[in-house]
Amino acid sequence: MAATLFHITLFFLLFSIVQSRLYTLPQPIIQLPHLPHLFSVADYGAIGDGLHYDTAAIQATIDACHSAGGGQIRFPPGTYLTATVYIKSGVYLVVEEGAKILGGTKLEDYPEESRRWYVLLAENATDVGITGGGVIDGHGMKFVKRFEEAKNVMVSWNETGACLGDECRPRLVGFLGCRNVRVWNIRLNEPAYWCLHLVGCNNTSIHDVSIYGDFNTPNNDGIDIEDSNNTVITRCSISTGDDSICPKTSNGPLYNLTVTNCWLRSRSSAIKLGSGSFYDFKGLVFDNITIDDSHRGLGMQIRDGGDVSDVTFSNMNIKTRYYEPVLWWGRAEPIYITTCPRDSNSKEGSISNIRFINISATSENGVFLSGSKAGLLSNLRFQNVNFTYRRWTNFPDDLVDYRPGCRGLVKHSPAGMIMEHIDGLELENVNMRWSGVIQNKRWNNPLDFLPSTVNNISFLNFQSGSDSVREIRAPREGSIV
Ligand SMILES: *[C@@H]1O[C@H](CO)[C@@H](O)[C@H](O)[C@H]1NC(C)=O
Ligand SMILES: *[C@@H]1O[C@H](CO)[C@@H](O)[C@H](O)[C@H]1NC(C)=O
Ligand SMILES: *[C@@H]1O[C@H](CO)[C@@H](O)[C@H](O)[C@H]1NC(C)=O
Ligand SMILES: *[C@@H]1O[C@H](CO)[C@@H](O)[C@H](O)[C@H]1NC(C)=O
Ligand SMILES: *[C@@H]1O[C@H](CO)[C@@H](O)[C@H](O)[C@H]1NC(C)=O
Ligand SMILES: *[C@@H]1O[C@H](CO)[C@@H](O)[C@H](O)[C@H]1NC(C)=O
Ligand SMILES: *[C@@H]1O[C@H](CO)[C@@H](O)[C@H](O)[C@H]1NC(C)=O
Ligand SMILES: *[C@@H]1O[C@H](CO)[C@@H](O)[C@H](O)[C@H]1NC(C)=O
Ligand SMILES: *[C@@H]1O[C@H](CO)[C@@H](O)[C@H](O)[C@H]1NC(C)=O
Ligand SMILES: *[C@@H]1O[C@H](CO)[C@@H](O)[C@H](O)[C@H]1NC(C)=O
Repeated sequence: MAATLFHITLFFLLFSIVQSRLYTLPQPIIQLPHLPHLFSVADYGAIGDGLHYDTAAIQATIDACHSAGGGQIRFPPGTYLTATVYIKSGVYLVVEEGAKILGGTKLEDYPEESRRWYVLLAENATDVGITGGGVIDGHGMKFVKRFEEAKNVMVSWNETGACLGDECRPRLVGFLGCRNVRVWNIRLNEPAYWCLHLVGCNNTSIHDVSIYGDFNTPNNDGIDIEDSNNTVITRCSISTGDDSICPKTSNGPLYNLTVTNCWLRSRSSAIKLGSGSFYDFKGLVFDNITIDDSHRGLGMQIRDGGDVSDVTFSNMNIKTRYYEPVLWWGRAEPIYITTCPRDSNSKEGSISNIRFINISATSENGVFLSGSKAGLLSNLRFQNVNFTYRRWTNFPDDLVDYRPGCRGLVKHSPAGMIMEHIDGLELENVNMRWSGVIQNKRWNNPLDFLPSTVNNISFLNFQSGSDSVREIRAPREGSIV
């Protein structure tokens, strides 16, 4: 393509309201790549009134842009109701501030095969992206069958047999088998199911994206990165009911994922590897991340035989709490690393060379490090890590969580760090502090070795202790002290 540069500079402010808290992302200068052609959906008949479907107009614009060799497609302010549209090679959607792409809520709005149920779908495309400062909305609340404070009951489109089970709802944005994907300066709201999904992609950049999903809705994950290599995520702000950032391996390995400078909040796991874990995960870096009020902080649910290696978690602030006893996975653990096989037919994956460095966590429960007989945890290293353990809800704390599958929920008292099936663990400058107590919720056992093989452990400057213990009146079940 010609080298005459045609940069568009967009300055923007990204706001998101999370439980009446306003938070702001930094205001970077964003440049659209050099794009030869400029299209607008308005020129192809899109109405943008939020009532009439603009599917045909949007698709016609994309097709024309793609045929012209690629370019950018503007969505001027307005609400564009649409069934699935297919993004093609060379096409960048520019959803301007004040513009919203709104997903349809009818089964016939989506293709026949459920694997293609997305509002926006790019398949086997190269050099594609989404930006512009506007919103893409999955209309997720329309999929709630019954609102419940603990967990909404959702619609499942499983009548046709194209999808089975109770998780049959459309995802929001999908890149399947794509190369050179860029998603930036955009808000993704209220997905009905997973929000931003990469499958089998190479060279993806996601930055300055904010994702908001209802806190009581299951399966509305923020970013799911599946079987993909060379993915970079930075300056993102994600608040979701289900997992915020979730790498998986279902049909191939995942190499080189870097996540930096993000803020995450989840009623499940803020960062979770798995549980789909049939192939290897290698070369992952999570740095400078704040995790707020999540049900679990850093999680690995390796259940299907894939091996995890070379992962670093650094410079993090983590806060985890209980939300309810059993409906959502997670038991307020700041760190949860497990290889328990899903069922008796599953292989055991291993986890090795994992580093936790410069981490400060405040949580209602301790760390859970649980390998399995043929799926050992090896060479785990904690360096400069402060754990503050405190109870501020009154939910029970006598369960460890081996879900999904495996041994399920098992009665066991809490500890600062529970360990089983480990070969090689180093703790250097690790501090556990118990702070305050709720009546009858006192626990201060720092280290708990479950009956199994735990070998080659070294502690250097490990400290544990309690603040002056105060009795605090037991609060109402579930209330925040
Ligand atoms: C994308 O590639 C996959 C694998 O080669 C193929 O199964 C699928 O049909 C392709 N999709 C499209 C829309 O070409
Ligand atoms: C369809 O979804 C409902 C839950 O919404 C579930 O109870 C039912 O078992 C599912 N049926 C099939 C065939 O998957
Ligand atoms: C990776 O993708 C970006 C666009 O997001 C592109 O600018 C870059 O050239 C790609 N890298 C390679 C090696 O293709
Ligand atoms: C990712 O890299 C691995 C190792 O080179 C390779 O086997 C796999 O096919 C790659 N995946 C993609 C989507 O390119
Ligand atoms: C994958 O993307 C990286 C850049 O992130 C590039 O260096 C590499 O050549 C790409 N690999 C393939 C198989 O396209
Ligand atoms: C992962 O990144 C390393 C270092 O940049 C690179 O050498 C390797 O080729 C990448 N792996 C894949 C599968 O692209
Ligand atoms: C860490 O991330 C925050 C945004 O969450 C950013 O403001 C800050 O500059 C980052 N720090 C570093 C050292 O990059
Ligand atoms: C950990 O923190 C120390 C002190 O702030 C800093 O010098 C070091 O670079 C950090 N390590 C990593 C891996 O970020
Ligand atoms: C841990 O606490 C010590 C003592 O308060 C402090 O000096 C250190 O910076 C803290 N480390 C982290 C990673 O927060
Ligand atoms: C013990 O673990 C350390 C890393 O934590 C490793 O370097 C060393 O080789 C291990 N020693 C044995 C005897 O396995």
